[in-house]
Amino acid sequence: MPSVMTPKVSVIGAGNVGAEAARGLAARQLADVVLLDIVEGVPQGKALDMLQAGPIVGYDSLVTGSNDYKDIAGSDIVIVTAGLARKPGMSRDDLLKKNAQIISSVAQNIKQHAPNSIILTVTNPLDTMTYLAWKASGFVPEKVVGMAPLLDLARMAAFIAIELNVPLTSVSAMVLGTHGDLMVPVPSQTKVSGKPITELLPQAKIDAIVERTKNGGAEIVAHLKTGSAYYAPAAAAVRMAEAILKDKKELIPSSVLAQGQYGLNDLYIGLPAKLGKGGAEQIVEIELTKAEEAALKRSAEAIKANNQKCVK
Ligand code: LAC
Repeated sequence: MPSVMTPKVSVIGAGNVGAEAARGLAARQLADVVLLDIVEGVPQGKALDMLQAGPIVGYDSLVTGSNDYKDIAGSDIVIVTAGLARKPGMSRDDLLKKNAQIISSVAQNIKQHAPNSIILTVTNPLDTMTYLAWKASGFVPEKVVGMAPLLDLARMAAFIAIELNVPLTSVSAMVLGTHGDLMVPVPSQTKVSGKPITELLPQAKIDAIVERTKNGGAEIVAHLKTGSAYYAPAAAAVRMAEAILKDKKELIPSSVLAQGQYGLNDLYIGLPAKLGKGGAEQIVEIELTKAEEAALKRSAEAIKANNQKCVK
């Protein structure tokens, strides 16, 4: 079967998020896809299954599974989903240290085998893992970017659409900061068909939506019992990959290296960024209320505390 796509995207980790991201990339015919995992057979089996959906759905994307980092050579983007989810008895710090080791080793492999790629991280805790991927790869900061604010703002948008009984796509929401308890939903920049939600909903409803957004991941885990969300997280990674591959310069809140913007320095944190061929090409400063600014500072402190636990 010929490769018909010029772009190539590799996905590290063939769990639910990785496999769903690979499927999304193939189904939207955005790139040829390599699905890589350390577990033998799983990426090969899932990739072959996805390939066989092509004649039915109508796509020609070449999807292959691999256990060998040599196969990511020539990737335009490498999406990193590898890592552990928290198991019973495991603290957040245990998870942090374990995933830090995994991400550093994945990033070194990317540096060796796909030195011209853009790294798009998905592994949690997201902002710290993105920071570590940047450090371990030695890539310029624009070429290492984390997915999560787009997921968080999509959750906020969905809750607003449910509350106001409007189409999902009519809501444009904004969430910045960390992907965690201290994330910063930004109601002042959230609109429905161009109208600020502060004019459409009473403050108590907005507060409730902000809280539900912060707990968006946990709400899904509570339903699923085992495992966490993957449809929306994978969709967010695919959307970011599309903006990069098509050089859209699209403004998508992403985890990016702050270098003075918003008064923040030397950490990856969710900020509005223009995504294009060069990765996170530009961080855009938008107006925040005093309370939102203060929340962003608290978010940054929490991320820095995690970063310090991992960087010797
Ligand atoms: C979530 C986890 C997976 O937000 O980060 O669903």
